[in-house]
Amino acid sequence: MELVNQILGLLAYTFVIAVGLAVIGIAILYVVDVTQTTHAIRRNYPVIGRFRYLFEELGEFFRQYFFAMDREEMPFNRAERSWVYRAAKGADSTVAFGSTRDLSRAGTPVFVNCAWPTLGEDAAMPQLVTVGAGTCRQPYSTERMFHISGMSFGAISRPAIQALSNGARMAGCWLNTGEGGLSPYHLEGGADIVFQIGTAKYGVRKPDGSLDEDHLREIAEHAQVRMFEIKLSQGAKPGKGGMLPGVKVTAEIAAVRGIPVGEDSDSPNRHVDIGSTTELLDFIERVREITGKPVGFKTVIGAHRWLEDLCSEAAARGPTAGPDFITVDSGDGGTGAAPMPLMDCVGLTVRESLPLVIDILTEAGMRDRVKVIVSGKMIIPSAVAAAFCMGADFVVSARGFMFALGCIQAMKCNQNTCPTGITTHDKRLQRGLVPVDKAERVKRYQQQMETEVGMIAHSCGVSEPRHLRRYHCRVVQANGRSVPMDKLFPYPKAASKQATA
Ligand SMILES: Cc1cc2nc3c(=O)[nH]c(=O)nc-3n(C[C@H](O)[C@H](O)[C@H](O)COP(=O)(O)O)c2cc1C
Repeated sequence: MELVNQILGLLAYTFVIAVGLAVIGIAILYVVDVTQTTHAIRRNYPVIGRFRYLFEELGEFFRQYFFAMDREEMPFNRAERSWVYRAAKGADSTVAFGSTRDLSRAGTPVFVNCAWPTLGEDAAMPQLVTVGAGTCRQPYSTERMFHISGMSFGAISRPAIQALSNGARMAGCWLNTGEGGLSPYHLEGGADIVFQIGTAKYGVRKPDGSLDEDHLREIAEHAQVRMFEIKLSQGAKPGKGGMLPGVKVTAEIAAVRGIPVGEDSDSPNRHVDIGSTTELLDFIERVREITGKPVGFKTVIGAHRWLEDLCSEAAARGPTAGPDFITVDSGDGGTGAAPMPLMDCVGLTVRESLPLVIDILTEAGMRDRVKVIVSGKMIIPSAVAAAFCMGADFVVSARGFMFALGCIQAMKCNQNTCPTGITTHDKRLQRGLVPVDKAERVKRYQQQMETEVGMIAHSCGVSEPRHLRRYHCRVVQANGRSVPMDKLFPYPKAASKQATA
């Protein structure tokens, strides 16, 4: 009996020690997690957040039993997200064994490799592209091809903007403010900035919703602000203005936007003072005259006859009239919040609309002067390279850079509960996003993107991505066979020079 008691005592003693050690271990992990600055999820959810990484690791081995395959998640699949994460972390960007991409799936771009790819020593630095040459007092030039698309202060958090602005400066790319106005955090990093004038004109609005020219002039006085983008529409919600739920309208955001605290902030469906191509051209000229900087507009394309009218009218006004750039957003673009019918069913994707816009400008003889920026699910090198084949001058991304900041596609952007601190103003959750660390990731993602788009260009035998042409890319059709992009979207006659360059 005594022996049994001794054994029980020993077991109890061991149990207490084991529990004590476990508690100490958890406490140590807790402290390690809340004090480290690299992983937002572990910082925000100490200890239990580690299971995400464990499951991610185990998913490699168990995915065929429990998890979706690499290419099945939406809007971005695991393979695409993993590429961004690896690029942002500066990890090995190679993958093993073979492609998990279904190369016979309709819409897949296949690049036409050249028998004699470009040698490393023959690779060219990207060209310097100037926007607004000959039309404004301060044109803007940049060599960078891949930039940060508009995400407003409000839709995304202070630390997210700080990380983007510092990362953009380090990478040399621009940061678009989105429609929420210019905050000190956009300026903080010293990056080039594109100021977006949304339909509510946040940051440059008079109480009646019209343009406040004095405020606009003040914004233009910042040397960092390089261009102005008039937002007509956004791919995720064509015909609907920006929507910021009241829960995200903090005092600081309200002050930057010039609106009441805590109330839903819904922008009008269009600029109240722009209801025709004539008014758009007038507005562009007005903003360019006040700011002295390049001015363009952002739109998702649905109907497109108006664009042809705009070009004819601009041509009639003279060689310096019209936009300096057009940003073409895709019908499947992202957003902080949008109604599902608009998100799912309205507006063309850039796979169709980008060549259309390029060809309209070419036919109108405006292609050289009007630069084309494109956005829409271009978060990996093949998507960006395909955009250059179609004829884009620049590619911008919002969600690609969100992944670089640590986004895990929790899709809570409209609820103020983003677990990675990117789209929330909850201070506790923002703690996870340490701007200094994430700025490095933004820089590395931008740089790795340009490097790997360059690899595709070199494989096709051209010296840099902007030399890619439609015939360098084939697009897989429903029957599994690919068709050259220049057969799907033949170059207009006016572009024959470009097509054979
Ligand atoms: C959180 C979030 C906020 C956004 N805010 C704006 C905005 O203020 N103005 C705008 O024109 N587009 C906004 N967008 C759209 C993006 O700028 C971009 O056009 C679209 O997401 C497509 O690019 P992507 O596929 O790389 O995300 C936002 C997108 C996201 C995800």
